[in-house]
Amino acid sequence: MKGIILAGGSGTRLSPSTDSINKHLLAVFDKPMIYYPLSVLMLGGIKEIMIISTPEDKPRFEELLGDGSALGISLQYGEQVKPNGIPEALTLSEQFLGRDAVTLILADNIFYGQGFTTLLRNAIKNHRHATVFGYRVKDASRFGVVEFDHNQKVISLQEKPEDPRSDFAVTGLYIYDNKSVQLAKKLKPSARGELEITDLNKEYLKRGQLDVELLGRGFAWMDAGTHESLFEASEFVKITQQRQGFKLACLEEIAYYLGYISRETLYEKGKSMEKNDYGQYLLEIANRKHTQQYWDSIDRNPMLGLVD
Ligand code: DAU
Repeated sequence: MKGIILAGGSGTRLSPSTDSINKHLLAVFDKPMIYYPLSVLMLGGIKEIMIISTPEDKPRFEELLGDGSALGISLQYGEQVKPNGIPEALTLSEQFLGRDAVTLILADNIFYGQGFTTLLRNAIKNHRHATVFGYRVKDASRFGVVEFDHNQKVISLQEKPEDPRSDFAVTGLYIYDNKSVQLAKKLKPSARGELEITDLNKEYLKRGQLDVELLGRGFAWMDAGTHESLFEASEFVKITQQRQGFKLACLEEIAYYLGYISRETLYEKGKSMEKNDYGQYLLEIANRKHTQQYWDSIDRNPMLGLVD
């Protein structure tokens, strides 16, 4: 299983904040937005990841995250010249994917909730062809919408419908088999001139190959694509972190607890940023007396609310 993070787009909805910086590099409270989707893929156990952005913004992401070795993962970078649509992420990654399946995540999507890692890992392990994640929202017409029967079998999909058939949005996290690349190549642009991820999902639905996983009310899912939702996401992260004392999407912490980097590496990283809160947090973890066995013995639950 490989991973793709789609971090291109024109960012016009957040202009002028995004006139000279890519939206996904803006801070969601105390770290860049892209940390959140990257943390999701890491927690899902995915170690080979392609980040796709615009030719102008690609170097900024490379500067921020490098080749991933500091986190014990492998990062590659791709370019999307124009925001032609989300499915283009798959065709642009054809070589990178080879024959592998893929988990694709939109770089403005934030997921949080106890049990999320287990749910994602199970979805990856058990996936057949295509899996999408449904989340109940108040304003479904802003999103892709999934309708399903009482057996959780998908009945229909709609993209930003005026009159949604259900309250369940399709989140920006998708698991696909390798044929998604060829299917994406056959898609035609929609009326708004973009290739639609919903059209790809409809193709899987037509073939009886689309599964939906529901994220229940204990989960938080946010798409930080507007000023309001970006601000709300920052508030959510701030309040949750302050209350619990754990950071969300702290990539070094995740890498450490997954065994990708050593305590020494974590300590050095913390030391290099010790003047700020993020660095202090890394030092605190590196200095904890608890051993790996301790975390294993308590199922790692209190650690992040994410790794469980
Ligand atoms: O967030 C979930 C929603 O994402 C889904 O429910 C919808 O079905 C899906 O179409 C998408 O809707 P959005 O209106 O949020 O899509 P948007 O155009 O805002 O793009 C989502 C992210 O993907 C955004 O961070 C920019 C990036 N993107 C988008 C397009 C179309 C690219 O990097 N390249 C693109 O060509």
